[in-house]
Amino acid sequence: MKIARFSRIGFILATTGSAVGLGNIWKFPYIAGEYGGGAFVLVYLLTVLMIGFSIMIAEMLIGYIGRKDGVTSFEELASKNKHLWKFAGFQGLAGLLIMTFYSVVIGWIFHYVVTSLTSLPSSVAQAETTFMSMLNSGMWTQLFYHTVAFVWITYVLTRGIKGGIEKMNIILMPTLMIILLGMFAYATTLNSFSQAVDFMFTPDWSKIDSTAFITAVGHAFFTLSLGMGAIMTYSASMEKNSNLVKNAFWVVFLDTFIAIIAGLMLFTFLYQYGSGPAKGPGLVFISLPAAFYEMGIIGNIFAVIFFIALAFAGLTSSVSLVEPMVQYFIDRFNWSRVKASISMGLFFYLIGIISLLSNIDGFKETLSWGEKNFFDWMDYITAGIMLPLGGLLMAIFVGYVIEKQRVESILKPQLGFAFETWYFSLRYIVPVAMFVVMLNLIGVI
Ligand code: PFF
Repeated sequence: MKIARFSRIGFILATTGSAVGLGNIWKFPYIAGEYGGGAFVLVYLLTVLMIGFSIMIAEMLIGYIGRKDGVTSFEELASKNKHLWKFAGFQGLAGLLIMTFYSVVIGWIFHYVVTSLTSLPSSVAQAETTFMSMLNSGMWTQLFYHTVAFVWITYVLTRGIKGGIEKMNIILMPTLMIILLGMFAYATTLNSFSQAVDFMFTPDWSKIDSTAFITAVGHAFFTLSLGMGAIMTYSASMEKNSNLVKNAFWVVFLDTFIAIIAGLMLFTFLYQYGSGPAKGPGLVFISLPAAFYEMGIIGNIFAVIFFIALAFAGLTSSVSLVEPMVQYFIDRFNWSRVKASISMGLFFYLIGIISLLSNIDGFKETLSWGEKNFFDWMDYITAGIMLPLGGLLMAIFVGYVIEKQRVESILKPQLGFAFETWYFSLRYIVPVAMFVVMLNLIGVI
């Protein structure tokens, strides 16, 4: 059977599509805002460069030489303890769990595309009421759009690597970039642009403590899609003789570039028309629509295309979140792609309904444990624990378990003199950093 592979540009766009998601446009600006901008951005950039880039290369390598689903790749490449290492491949489950809330958020975005067509909230207070009433009592609305997201994502997955994933990314990613660059270009003409630049790039070290530092590391992981097998699974379909280092560079560069562009644009709008770098997750759903309202008719247009771009970013990430488990059932159980896609789709869709209900009045209490509801628990368990754990395992696997010769034969020609530095960082720096992040996230330090 001929195995479908990504084209070179298809691979870069699909992997960038995985990386660029709600993490870049929704999460990055608001956490940068929370931690005071400049210094946090600097720490984040350093982390992306020193830890993210190294693990990106390692994760690509496992997929590229393994050529199979994550479980099989870990199992076949382990030089010893194969039966234990194969469990590292079950990290793919984290993707399905992330989808249980990611798909609900994509649903909110669809809803915002539609409502922005006709009206925008005239104040932050009104925007807040609108958002909260959708969140806490708009059960049918959310269910409807969650279903649309499920159907879209599952359909693309049934079409496979070439005809589904690559094709969607080749259309959506350039469109997303054009929309963001266009809006960014407009933002540069506004007076507040320089204020946004100052905010993002003038370091205020007083705001940086260990939590900020660790948040930056955790976010670098989430935003680059590392630690759960998405990059690995895509890399299994990379063309032979690809340059992994170049590919990893492009993905890391584009992901970071888009986060910075999105941050500068949003902060400019919020300084110019809104309430400043409003803090918290409500940034794009509450403060931003109110700022768009102040912009007049162009604000309406911007609101619609901004939410379309955000939906595209979310959808291209979503397929990469589900694909690892789809691939697993195809490779290990000989399932057809259609059967695997629909089953995995139904899994996140049905559990996603619990996430959705856990924000709805009347269900909230039953679906909350401790401080968090089901939705927040899923976010915390996956982004907080499973991804850093997966990254740690991958660094250890490439640094200690695969024979060095094998790693060297592929990467030495591509990395040149930097090979030893990369290998050292994978063996020592990355594991220590990831370990500290995990201890902090589970509250031990
Ligand atoms: N990188 C995506 C984002 O920034 O929204 C989220 C994500 C996708 C995380 C795929 C993990 C993953 F495997």
